[in-house]
Order: sequence, then C-alpha cells, then structure tokens
Amino acid sequence: MWGGRFSAKPDQVMQAINASIDVDKRLAEEDIAGSKAHAAMLAKTGIVSKADAKAIDDGLTQVLDEIRAGKLQFSKALEDIHMNVEARLKEIIGDPAGRLHTARSRNDQVATDFRLWVKSACAARIGQIEALMRAFLGQAEAHAETVMPGFTHLQTAQPVTFGHHLLAYVEMLDRDRGRFRDAIARMDESPLGAAALAGTGFPIDRDMTAKALGFARPMANSLDAVSDRDFALESLSAVAICAGHLSRLAEEMVIWSSAQFGFVKQSDAWSTGSSIMPQKRNPDAAELVRAKTGRATGSLVGLLTVMKALPLAYSKDMQEDKATTFEAFDALDLSLQAMTGMVTAMAPDPVRMRAAAASGFSTATDLADWLVRELNMPFRDAHHVTGMAVKAAEQAGQDLPGLPLSALQAIEPRITQDVFAVLTVEASVASRQSYGGTAPQRVREQVAAWKEKLT
Ligand code: ARG
Repeated sequence: MWGGRFSAKPDQVMQAINASIDVDKRLAEEDIAGSKAHAAMLAKTGIVSKADAKAIDDGLTQVLDEIRAGKLQFSKALEDIHMNVEARLKEIIGDPAGRLHTARSRNDQVATDFRLWVKSACAARIGQIEALMRAFLGQAEAHAETVMPGFTHLQTAQPVTFGHHLLAYVEMLDRDRGRFRDAIARMDESPLGAAALAGTGFPIDRDMTAKALGFARPMANSLDAVSDRDFALESLSAVAICAGHLSRLAEEMVIWSSAQFGFVKQSDAWSTGSSIMPQKRNPDAAELVRAKTGRATGSLVGLLTVMKALPLAYSKDMQEDKATTFEAFDALDLSLQAMTGMVTAMAPDPVRMRAAAASGFSTATDLADWLVRELNMPFRDAHHVTGMAVKAAEQAGQDLPGLPLSALQAIEPRITQDVFAVLTVEASVASRQSYGGTAPQRVREQVAAWKEKLT
C-alpha cells in the first residue's frame, strides 16, 4: 500500500504489532455496508461514474459472500479489514476498486464500522436483557407468596417474599436496558465523510451516507468524528454495570444453592459434578458469570486508559479499542444467556426458605411496630422493649413466636395475646403493603405492570 513512498518492507515485529486483522475481521459486515453506502454516494454526487460505482457495489457483494462463506484468506500484510476488503475488491473488479477510497480515509471508515458494530451490539444486549427480565417475571409470579429471609449485611433482617427479591433484579435490568438505549441514542451519528481528519474538498453528501447506514445524522465536527470513542466507553460502562448486576445475582445463586442454605436447587443443565467428590453439584455457570464481571470492568478501564490524554485527532492507539470492546460484549452476551437459563430452570424450596425466614428473630420489627401501633409507644422505646424480648427468647432457646405471653408481659405488661398474630412470617410480609413493599399483593401488581411494559 505504501509502495510509492517506502522502499523497504516492514520489520516482522512491526507487522505483528501493527496488524489488526485478527481482531477487526469481525467488522467485515459493517465495513462492506459502509463502503457500499460511500460508493453509492460517490456516484450520486458525480464524484465517480455510475458504471464504476456499480462495479464496486457488485464486487463488494462478492467479497461479502466470500467472507461469509469463510472463503476469503485474510492477510496480515494487509493490516486490517479495510485493506483486506479493498485488496480483494481490486482482484475481482480491477481498476474501479481504486476509486472507492476517494474522499474517505481509514480513520472515518473505522470509526463508522466500529460505531455500527457497537450500536447493534447494544441493541442485541437490550433484547437479551428483556429475555432475562421475562424469566424473572415468571418466577416472581410463581413465588409472589414464597417467604424467605431478607438480609442486610447477610444477616437475617426481615422476611420478604421471593417474588419481591427477584423483582429487584428486574428493576436493575430495566436501568441497564435504559443505559444501552441512551448510549445508542447518543452514538446515532455518522463519522463517514470526516475523511482523515479535516473533511474533504469533494462535494460529498454526508446526509446520504448517514441515512443509508441507519444513523440519524452526520457528526458535526470532522476532528471529533475520527477521534471520538466515547460511544464505546459509554457502552462499556453500561456493559460493566450490567455485568456487575449479574454478578450479584450469581453470588446469590451460589449462596442459595449451597447445602447450608438450600433455598434453590439448580437444574442439572446448569450444574457440574466433581471428578473426586460424587456428592457435589457445583454452580459453575453462576460462578463464571460472577467472574466475567472482571472482563467487563477490565475492558472499560482498559479503554479509558487507552483514550486518556490522546491528542486530536486519530492515533494508532485507538486500534486497541476493538479487542477490549468485543471481549466485554461477548462476556455479557454469554452471561445474560446463562442467567436467563438459570433463572428459568432454578427450583426454589419454599419449605426451607420459610424455615430460614422464621429463624433469627426475623419478626422483631413487627413486634416493635405492634407496640407502636397498639400501645402508642414511641418507636425508640418499642425498639428497646423488643430488644429485651429478643434477649429473653435467645436465653430460652426460642424464637419470638415461641415465647409464652407471660415472658413478654414480664417485659411489658400491656402486651396481649393479639401480638402473636403479627409475629408469623406470613403476617409480616402481608403487612408490608407500602408502595414498593414486599407484600404478595404488591408483588403481583408489579409483575402485572412489568408484563404490560415488556410487551
Ligand atoms: N486498523 C486501524 C484501526 O483500527 C484503522 C485505521 C487506520 N488509520 C491510520 N491512520 N493508520 O484503528
């Protein structure tokens, strides 16, 4: 490519560090779409002849077919996908191929290809997030009344419904979906036509190419167009946050499926055995989802670091944007699929969950609330009285509902038999009817509202 100016071949290591084809061959579809849009525009504006543009378009179709069929041998000497495609086009159609790069540079070309890829990857992840949200809704509906311990500090706090717990993830995933949507809206501008960095003297039509490629409009500043990678950073941030959410779910699945908790049994399809311990059912998929967060976060930090302090406009540093972005999106792709499978397949054990929910003095707050409501005690005093009741129960080796009334009355004489009605886990969750609360009725309403929103 540089024969006009260079007389010696590149050093082998130079080729190894410089060639990006092993990574950016993934942009083949986008690259050819970009070239087709550019060629059509060059013909429309009279910059190249209609006949040449037609030859280019037909040739590009053939190159794409060859790539899809795995028939095109990519060459490292040709550096990247852009030059590999153009070289093959030249072999197929001859001289007109040389006109395709008029009023264009690889700088705006790669920015366009990569934006198209990231945009469609974000849209694909949105679809997968919605599939996971639906899986959650199915389980939340089935378990609107299943009671489990709610935790803070991983210490038993108050009983909650399993459906309510699962719906918390639906809310998180909805925000993840929103972040991808926002990123798409902001990246919806075409860099094509910025050329190397300064624009071009040819009478190009940037609106035409932007529209042909599905962008809302062309980017307004040519320097920015070739040097911006915000779109990748913003998307990677959405990937990292979403992966972080999945890691919390993964961690909970690992805990829930342990013998000690036994809240949830994971199906064989999502478990592995041990080569030495026959009793084991390992939650490998959940563990790997938990671990893949490292790639997602690492990719974001990696690209932030690549972009830091780069002078305008394009620098070759930016070639390192793709591997890291592909890796993060791939990790999230697998993680979302695996989580959707696991959430759909998991079998909660309501009996174990209820037993766990009823232990650890989980209805202590309900006792305090009863004292406030029925005896008009200030909450702080009620908290103190309840603390004494918990202490008495602990000493008696009982849970709160197991204490005799006399023991409670020894602490606060005005307590009556009625109090026991609020000390069961069912009464506890049913009472939490505040908007956003854990009561089965609220869970059913939320499931219905989400089903409506997701259709
Ligand atoms: N392979 C390059 C990349 O991914 C394409 C752009 C090359 N531009 C340049 N001026 N050398 O960034």
